[in-house]
Amino acid sequence: MFLATLESANAIARACLNDALPKRGPMAEPMAYAVQGGKGLRGFLVIEGAKLFDIPDTASRFPAAAIEAMHACSLVHDDLPCMDDDDLRRGQPTVHKKWDDATAVLVGDALQSVAFELVADPRAGSGDVRADLAVSLAKGAGGEGMVLGQALDLGAERAPAPLTLDEIIELQAGKTGALFEWSATAGARMAQADIEPLRRYGEALGLAFQIADDILDIEGDVTTVGKAVRKDQDAGKATFVSLLGMDGAKNRASELVDEACDALSPYADKAESLREAARFAISRDN
Ligand code: IPE
Ligand code: IPE
Ligand code: MG
Ligand code: MG
Ligand code: MG
Repeated sequence: MFLATLESANAIARACLNDALPKRGPMAEPMAYAVQGGKGLRGFLVIEGAKLFDIPDTASRFPAAAIEAMHACSLVHDDLPCMDDDDLRRGQPTVHKKWDDATAVLVGDALQSVAFELVADPRAGSGDVRADLAVSLAKGAGGEGMVLGQALDLGAERAPAPLTLDEIIELQAGKTGALFEWSATAGARMAQADIEPLRRYGEALGLAFQIADDILDIEGDVTTVGKAVRKDQDAGKATFVSLLGMDGAKNRASELVDEACDALSPYADKAESLREAARFAISRDN
């Protein structure tokens, strides 16, 4: 049931995103390639979060597609040799392997532009709503959000001492949490409603999701996960698992899922699909 809802939201967001991609020129093929595959969880959160406020997917598909474009940008850059140096993504060769490093840099740049083009689409809402979506997305993705987290992640590989728990939380809240928070709150922003309950949900969900990613790096299988596994420890990545051990990390992830679900109490039964998404974040195998 949840997987079917996820898949249908994913199809809506992806169709909207594909429409916004260039149809000709040298960037068309690598950009279409970079957005293929993926679970579409961030776009799902936008569409389901908007439903809490009775906003239809004819409007929410734009921010849903935007966050999937921004997320794909982050993955293409994350995989580059100067970052995590990965050859496999979503079960396929990474963009820089199929083309080259320069193409992958440009694909990420252009996908980031597409994200802002999509949130600015008049079909997403009023001028005020679109400005709020754009500014909050810029902050979430930027040097105090996702990019900050990526910088802290790379910095941790060279740090003389292991990070503390608070430092790991800050790192993961940036690299993964910031885009999840934005996804969860986009619907409330569209409705010009209080974003706080959904911000807390997104924050807890993002951390739980990244802990599950770190666990999959250790326990997962490359063909199921669709990306290289058992890399984080060798690279000296700072994760909840490296600090708390496997059982400690699993316990923390499940506490975070409870926190995420508790944050949804103002929306009662209407938020059931978001509760399912929180449980999925830590039970998934890819
Ligand atoms: C992978 O995110 C990167 C992380 C933040 C852990 P996803 O696991 O959502 O990647 P796709 O979009 O499904 O490939
Ligand atoms: C990636 O974290 C987070 C972003 C791309 C912003 P990871 O480096 O752990 O993600 P994977 O494991 O490569 O998907
Ligand atoms: Mg990384
Ligand atoms: Mg990586
Ligand atoms: Mg990872």
